[in-house]
Amino acid sequence: MRFVYPQSFLNPRQPDEIFQDEATALSKAGHIVTLIDSEKLPTEPATLKSITSEKTVVYRGWMLSPPEYKNFVLSIENADGLPLTTTEKYLSTHYLPNWYQIISDLTPETIVLSLDSDWNSELKKMGWSKFFVKDYVKSLKTSVGSLIESPEDIQTVVTEMKKYRGTIEGGLCIRRVENFLVETEQRYFVLKGQPHCVNPTDKIPDIVFECAKRINSQFFSVDVIHRADGQLRIVEIGDGQVSDLVGWSVQRFIDIWETAT
Ligand SMILES: Nc1ncnc2c1ncn2[C@@H]1O[C@H](COP(=O)(O)OP(=O)(O)OP(=O)(O)O)[C@@H](O)[C@H]1O
Ligand SMILES: [Mg+2]
Repeated sequence: MRFVYPQSFLNPRQPDEIFQDEATALSKAGHIVTLIDSEKLPTEPATLKSITSEKTVVYRGWMLSPPEYKNFVLSIENADGLPLTTTEKYLSTHYLPNWYQIISDLTPETIVLSLDSDWNSELKKMGWSKFFVKDYVKSLKTSVGSLIESPEDIQTVVTEMKKYRGTIEGGLCIRRVENFLVETEQRYFVLKGQPHCVNPTDKIPDIVFECAKRINSQFFSVDVIHRADGQLRIVEIGDGQVSDLVGWSVQRFIDIWETAT
């Protein structure tokens, strides 16, 4: 398999420091690892060397916005390669409103609001006692956090999101709060239809197979959590190319590619 990582700002011949261990280990395991100047992607495709072997390309790096991902795809195609994940498929797992439509029965109820709607009155209509506020991709992990009890507090969350994250991506996703047992959350990767668990001998729950059946993307992550009533729930789906390893060792992550060529 061929993997592309963002190049380091300080040393463009090396992968960005954050991804160096993973990139080195993949390379040692026999995969092809090349680099991309991801600073270019907000405005134009990056120039890559012609791809003559292992033409299917997997991106591993920071989350990309839709224009950035489109430029990533163009960079690959211009070099005669083929992205494992098209822009459409990337957004199908990266953007909450897209994956929510497919698995709404398996994850907390969610309403999607545009940036110019009257959030306060929309939240009041729901009659929920607590709300978890995200944009299309992320929650607010610092400052006041994403959990609010009063609809009017949404304004503060959005202001802080803009301050800490620079922008609101897409729009707002307001999720009904469920009684999750936080320490039970577990990330799974689904690669070419096959779910993988952090520990290869653990039993993979049915809910992960259900996601693998319903979601039509080559590589995505599935975060599963126990609710206090014993029910397993999906916290989040994500594109696998931009998912952190949370809980996974680099070696275990590399192992899943062994059988998937
Ligand atoms: N609807 C909800 N009800 C209760 N808790 C929630 C809800 N949604 C999210 N959480 C809690 O908040 C955490 C972060 O949520 P989520 O993964 O959706 O945001 P994120 O910004 O992608 O965070 P991370 O980077 O940790 O994945 C979850 O791990 C879960 O514990
Ligand atoms: Mg998450």
